[in-house]
Amino acid sequence: MLAMDYRGPYRVRARQKPEPEIEHPNDAIVRVTRSCICGSDLHLYHGLVPDTRVGTTFGHEFTGVVSEIGPSVRNLKVGDHVLVPFNIFCGTCFFCQRELYGNCHNTNPEATAAGGIYGYSHTTGGYDGGQAEYVRVPMADIGPTLIPGDMHVEDAVLLTDALPTGYQAAEMGEIEKGDVVVVFGAGPVGIFAARSAWLFGASRVIVVDHVEYRLEFVRQYAACEVVNLKDVADMAIHIKKMTDWLGADVCIDCVGCEAAGSLAQTISGRYLKLQAGAATVLHWAINSVRKGGTVSIVGVYGPTFNAVPIGNALNKGLTLRMNQASVKRHLPRLIEHIQAGRIEPRKIITHRIPLEDVADAYQIFSSKLDNCIKAVLIPPNAGVPA
Ligand SMILES: NC(=O)c1ccc[n+]([C@@H]2O[C@H](COP(=O)([O-])OP(=O)(O)OC[C@H]3O[C@@H](n4cnc5c(N)ncnc54)[C@H](O)[C@@H]3O)[C@@H](O)[C@H]2O)c1
Ligand SMILES: [Zn+2]
Ligand SMILES: [Zn+2]
Repeated sequence: MLAMDYRGPYRVRARQKPEPEIEHPNDAIVRVTRSCICGSDLHLYHGLVPDTRVGTTFGHEFTGVVSEIGPSVRNLKVGDHVLVPFNIFCGTCFFCQRELYGNCHNTNPEATAAGGIYGYSHTTGGYDGGQAEYVRVPMADIGPTLIPGDMHVEDAVLLTDALPTGYQAAEMGEIEKGDVVVVFGAGPVGIFAARSAWLFGASRVIVVDHVEYRLEFVRQYAACEVVNLKDVADMAIHIKKMTDWLGADVCIDCVGCEAAGSLAQTISGRYLKLQAGAATVLHWAINSVRKGGTVSIVGVYGPTFNAVPIGNALNKGLTLRMNQASVKRHLPRLIEHIQAGRIEPRKIITHRIPLEDVADAYQIFSSKLDNCIKAVLIPPNAGVPA
């Protein structure tokens, strides 16, 4: 089969690989219909995630048709068209019982923090991902979810990560009616966080980025105010100025470890790797939120040291909330929102690229060429069931 293949930082290609096989009775094999490239894949692509092994296949956002099931699979049958949450989770452990599917204790032997994730290095379990024609889906009775008959496949594929992650970012912000919400990052996750902030009752939503075409897009798509960080000398002062000098009620980090905007953070976090990524947006969020406010973090950071102004957070009495998204928990509500027309996920897709051109797709998305917001890969033989 054709699959994306990681060769090293900034080097990926499409290549023929053996098709995956059932390895456990509760596995399924899925023929991929669509898969996306995510901002999280860029951390892998840029060589920032430890134990990203050459020869592995990325891709944790995919839909597909079940082509084979293991003998113990009860909830799926061959031919089902499913969306597969990026988390691999058992459904029964201490954490899954509390709907913390992103923290499943049984699917990632390498870590005590994050659970298993498709195509996301051996630090999240070493599973191959869905930027391929076929993918092995473990715990097949638990994660995959039937795509409703009336749902567009491109809406479905955005339900595997970007939309639920943005939604959970807003939810963890504990937004109350009338709150002023600042979202850092106008990538897919930030765009959906901004859109979701209104659903939770925000009275004002402000999105910060430095890529002008993304700011222009989010301004329209999420009916929000925008700030280009390039125009701002001091972010905390700027946000305070916009919010009667008290600060925002809620700040949401949808950027993570590759943030631009601070030379010191960029050098120490991204080039010298003295900390696990640039903590620029954490500084801005903690310093821009009002006393007693909430900072919600979904932008990804490595597990080790980051120079975070925790003293400011303490003295301001902030609530800090963060996690990998627990995708499955949000699906019923988000499917309802899509069916009612309150959110149109696929409008953020700007690029539909054949899997064989995966190298170009990564370059376009990584370098923000051609006004790219979200790129979807289409494998050969990607027919969607009627
Ligand atoms: N927690 C989770 O479950 C989860 C799931 C999906 C993605 N993520 C993470 O969320 C983040 C965003 O994902 P995405 O797909 O939208 O990625 P993306 O790379 O497309 O978007 C990130 C955006 O942040 C902007 N940016 C850079 N520095 C900034 C700064 N200082 N202030 C404001 N904006 C800045 C970039 O220009 C870009 O538009 C990534 O870190 C990704 O790994 C987390
Ligand atoms: Zn993702
Ligand atoms: Zn579990």
